[in-house]
Amino acid sequence: MNLLFVFSAIFLLGTVFLPTIADPVEDKKALLDFLHNIHHSRSLNWNESSSVCNTWTGVTCNEDHSRVTALRLPAMAIHGRIPPDTISRLSAIQTLSLRSNSISGSLPSDFSKLQNLTYLYLQFNRFSGPLPSDFSVWKNLTVIDLSNNVFNGSLPSSISNLTHLTTLMLANNSLSGDIPDLNIPSLQQLNLSNNNLTGSVPHSLQRFPSSAFVGNNLTSENALPPALPDQPPNSSRRKTRKLSEPALLGIILGGCVLGFVVIALLIVFCYSNKGSKDGIPAKSQKKEKSLKKGVSESQDKNSRLVFFEGCSLAFDLEDLLRASAEVLGKGTFGTTYRAALEDATTVVVKRLKEVNVGKREFEQQMEMVGSIRHENVAPLRAYYYSKDEKLMVYDYYDQGSVSAMIHGRRGEGRTALDWDTRLRIAIGTAKGIAHVHTQNGGKLAHGDVRASNIFLNSQGNVCVSDIGLATLMSPMPPPVMRAAGYRAPEITDTRKSTHASDVYSFGVLLLELLTGKSPTNAAGSDEVVHLVRWVNSVVREEWTAEVFDLELLRYPNIEEELVEMLQIGMACVVRMPEQRPNMLDVVKMVEEIRRVGTENQPSSENKSDISSSTPTPHSTTEIGSSSLAQ
Ligand SMILES: *[C@@H]1O[C@H](CO)[C@@H](O)[C@H](O)[C@H]1NC(C)=O
Ligand SMILES: *[C@@H]1O[C@H](CO)[C@@H](O)[C@H](O)[C@H]1NC(C)=O
Ligand SMILES: *[C@@H]1O[C@H](CO)[C@@H](O)[C@H](O)[C@H]1NC(C)=O
Ligand SMILES: *[C@@H]1O[C@H](CO)[C@@H](O)[C@H](O)[C@H]1NC(C)=O
Ligand SMILES: *[C@@H]1O[C@H](CO)[C@@H](O)[C@H](O)[C@H]1NC(C)=O
Ligand SMILES: *[C@@H]1O[C@H](CO)[C@@H](O)[C@H](O)[C@H]1NC(C)=O
Ligand SMILES: *[C@@H]1O[C@H](CO)[C@@H](O)[C@H](O)[C@H]1NC(C)=O
Ligand SMILES: *[C@@H]1O[C@H](CO)[C@@H](O)[C@H](O)[C@H]1NC(C)=O
Ligand SMILES: *[C@@H]1O[C@H](CO)[C@@H](O)[C@H](O)[C@H]1NC(C)=O
Ligand SMILES: *[C@@H]1O[C@H](CO)[C@@H](O)[C@H](O)[C@H]1NC(C)=O
Repeated sequence: MNLLFVFSAIFLLGTVFLPTIADPVEDKKALLDFLHNIHHSRSLNWNESSSVCNTWTGVTCNEDHSRVTALRLPAMAIHGRIPPDTISRLSAIQTLSLRSNSISGSLPSDFSKLQNLTYLYLQFNRFSGPLPSDFSVWKNLTVIDLSNNVFNGSLPSSISNLTHLTTLMLANNSLSGDIPDLNIPSLQQLNLSNNNLTGSVPHSLQRFPSSAFVGNNLTSENALPPALPDQPPNSSRRKTRKLSEPALLGIILGGCVLGFVVIALLIVFCYSNKGSKDGIPAKSQKKEKSLKKGVSESQDKNSRLVFFEGCSLAFDLEDLLRASAEVLGKGTFGTTYRAALEDATTVVVKRLKEVNVGKREFEQQMEMVGSIRHENVAPLRAYYYSKDEKLMVYDYYDQGSVSAMIHGRRGEGRTALDWDTRLRIAIGTAKGIAHVHTQNGGKLAHGDVRASNIFLNSQGNVCVSDIGLATLMSPMPPPVMRAAGYRAPEITDTRKSTHASDVYSFGVLLLELLTGKSPTNAAGSDEVVHLVRWVNSVVREEWTAEVFDLELLRYPNIEEELVEMLQIGMACVVRMPEQRPNMLDVVKMVEEIRRVGTENQPSSENKSDISSSTPTPHSTTEIGSSSLAQ
């Protein structure tokens, strides 16, 4: 008890007399002036007495905490004009993201003082008036996204002085006049669509696809088809103009990306003809009277429905075939039905096609999968094998798959998938997969980890489904793989899935939970952009916060947890399989996210002085709380 007292005393002393951590005093004042002079419906934890660098939402400092270098307040319901002489005092700022708010008025002219500004994200606001006439004051600007505002006036030619510019997004404004000749070799992404621009597309910008210019009033002469990736370049021009290294790199990269996009679009086209993804209820849900019509009746005499131990279901094939069934989804593995039996039980029936193994091997695999019992594994209830039919029976989860929860009904009447649930999904899925990996002497891999194979049961437990199915199937021709976005790069034949490839797929799932983006469509447009590649590119540019799902940004104080999960996800998707952590380690890491998070959660207001990320006070807290807990 004495010890307890001593520790408590140390702890309290530490709290009260902790030397104040260096804080950028002037920047703090500027931020508070900004906060107090602008309307924001979502509350911010910017407390005058707490540390700017360690606790304030959306604020990032440099290493010695002498200056604020990034301000990110996306989707904070900020409205009104940016008060003058506030943000402009953050003269060391490099990243400014105020996207997806309702900020109006013109772009403050005093932003010209932000000489180190590198990334500017102001898209989806109500900024109006002209663009700044002299862009050359921001020599380091690399990304400008001012799209989806109401800027008017003309496009200033001074933009061409931005020699580091890679991205210029001005779509969906009211810009008018001619497009100036923006000869910026570093520029990789451009979108000027849906403005009121006139004249012609200058030569320097004709390398961009025509979709970057749609929705303007450009003369038809320039409505040239976009340069096809494999179209031979105008070689004479090429030779005469010396290309800088970044430009060459840009061209090569651009070519690769375009080629990839074309191939991917072809895939998507083929694929979309194959029907909707498994697990996500198809839009055109076909009610089928019964499975009977679909399932061939030529039953072999010695084929029967095989139930697994502990299954309380009581029905035979005849019941199943008589049940009223509804198509839940059609995938390349077959069709999934929801079948309502006469005794009011509902089950999911998977009707497999293209099974590539004989009866014995199928049964062995089913026995192996069916014997797995774990709270995070969706139990296989029964299976059926005949020459013409292969069926698997699972429980029905009426909340739908995690894929539907992440992506379903975005925009209209959607209930957001909250962070706690996402964290639970991550932990439960990791545990489920880890359990599969430890069964049967480590012989079994899941083989098809993806959001549409993960469910929440009625108790809210996470259940991983479709274990070991991929092993039974004929190898898909690689491009038509439906799980393409989840598949580890080393896997060319899904029958040969490994533990390491499961870890990769799980990493993709984590990124999907964090970004809310689909694994193959990260750009949010029709383009096929691999999520892993997208996250890597965003994180490389050091605007980590930009990757997270907007839905998550409404929850306070979870940044640390988000970043931690991001790091785990990225560790799982490294290219070399042997460099990935194993699933048991992943479980520990994912569980650690919240443990760290909750321990650091200030339990009293005094403690909020203590940073959650500075090591010294942190360890004091630990000593304090662990001894108090004894
Ligand atoms: C700021 O923190 C102090 C103590 O650190 C607390 O008393 C005060 O209520 C907080 N203010 C706000 C607005 O949260
Ligand atoms: C801009 O950034 C550079 C390099 O990080 C730094 O040396 C300089 O002080 C910054 N400028 C301002 C005005 O903070
Ligand atoms: C901005 O550019 C200048 C000159 O190129 C460079 O010295 C400085 O470090 C850059 N600032 C940042 C923050 O990168
Ligand atoms: C831009 O819009 C403002 C009103 O918001 C208007 O007064 C101004 O004339 C417009 N400028 C141009 C160039 O259209
Ligand atoms: C680029 O900057 C220089 C000086 O920094 C200026 O003289 C020139 O007019 C600028 N170019 C454009 C197109 O604005
Ligand atoms: C422009 O607005 C349209 C309609 O609101 C939207 O579909 C499109 O994605 C926007 N373009 C960009 C580049 O944001
Ligand atoms: C585009 O310009 C035309 C005239 O040039 C004008 O009538 C129209 O209102 C403008 N549209 C927008 C969206 O600014
Ligand atoms: C530009 O944005 C429009 C929508 O406003 C979109 O249709 C088009 O694909 C985009 N083009 C590029 C090259 O990003
Ligand atoms: C398109 O531009 C021409 C002149 O360049 C103008 O006469 C016409 O009204 C414009 N159309 C629209 C829809 O703005
Ligand atoms: C291609 O190069 C020739 C000169 O060799 C030039 O006359 C022509 O305008 C160029 N075409 C394009 C589309 O740049």
